[in-house]
Amino acid sequence: MIRLSGLRKSFGENTVLDGVDLDIAPGRVTALIGPSGSGKSTLLRCVNLLEVPEAGSLELDTLRITFNPDGRLPQKDVLAVRRSTGMVFQNFQLFPHRTVMENVTESLVIVQRWPLDRARARAAELLRTVGMGDKADAYPATLSGGQQQRVAIARALAASPKLLLCDEPTSALDPELAAEVVDVLGRLAEDGMTMLMATHDLRLAGRIAQHVVFLQGGEIVEQGPPAEIFGHPRDERTIRFVRTLSNTA
Ligand SMILES: Nc1ncnc2c1ncn2[C@@H]1O[C@H](COP(=O)(O)OP(=O)(O)OP(=O)(O)O)[C@@H](O)[C@H]1O
Ligand SMILES: [Mg+2]
Repeated sequence: MIRLSGLRKSFGENTVLDGVDLDIAPGRVTALIGPSGSGKSTLLRCVNLLEVPEAGSLELDTLRITFNPDGRLPQKDVLAVRRSTGMVFQNFQLFPHRTVMENVTESLVIVQRWPLDRARARAAELLRTVGMGDKADAYPATLSGGQQQRVAIARALAASPKLLLCDEPTSALDPELAAEVVDVLGRLAEDGMTMLMATHDLRLAGRIAQHVVFLQGGEIVEQGPPAEIFGHPRDERTIRFVRTLSNTA
């Protein structure tokens, strides 16, 4: 079980997460939706400690971290959280001067201290999983956006995280390339990967998420199965937001 309780985060005077409570069921996909600026990226970044919340707690399996306003955390907890989570970003963020293979092996070799041949074998397997097995020696700039994102997914999975965090994984892609990425994420979901993903992509959320969370103003307004949130939202704010999503999809 992954559980966020009372998570708070501000930037200066701006309270961006205002006491977020969320249970993330293992083996399920949770989609995070909400208007621009509602705190989706910040929430994802708090889960892997790219941002440090100032109150609340994070439980990830046996690990439990309680946050406090001084923002200091035991280094071993930070490392444990980083090891347990993988992150996929909207703009891929591959290392441009490294090959596809090197992008995927980097953290295994540098952070986890795996021997190079073991890391390469693991990377080759993951690249096959995302349909990029024949591009191991290519550089990111020579790949399409969809291919880069699939490499980024392989990289995020390298250390076998317990939770995959995805921040708008398809929104920088043309529909056709987005579809490739949706397929890859859909297969991971079928294989039981636990995911938390921020997305505006109704196709992505509708196809692979079992749970949808609507965030606005740093608070969870409503959550439930996709059919409920997209088809029969209850809160006036969710109704309004879902209407804008359907109009732009
Ligand atoms: N590093 C930062 N420093 C200061 N303010 C920040 C920082 N990161 C985010 N914010 C602010 O936090 C609020 C929430 O931003 P966040 O990026 O989490 O929203 P979002 O829901 O992901 O939006 P979008 O849909 O546009 O990606 C915004 O007001 C933003 O300006
Ligand atoms: Mg965002």
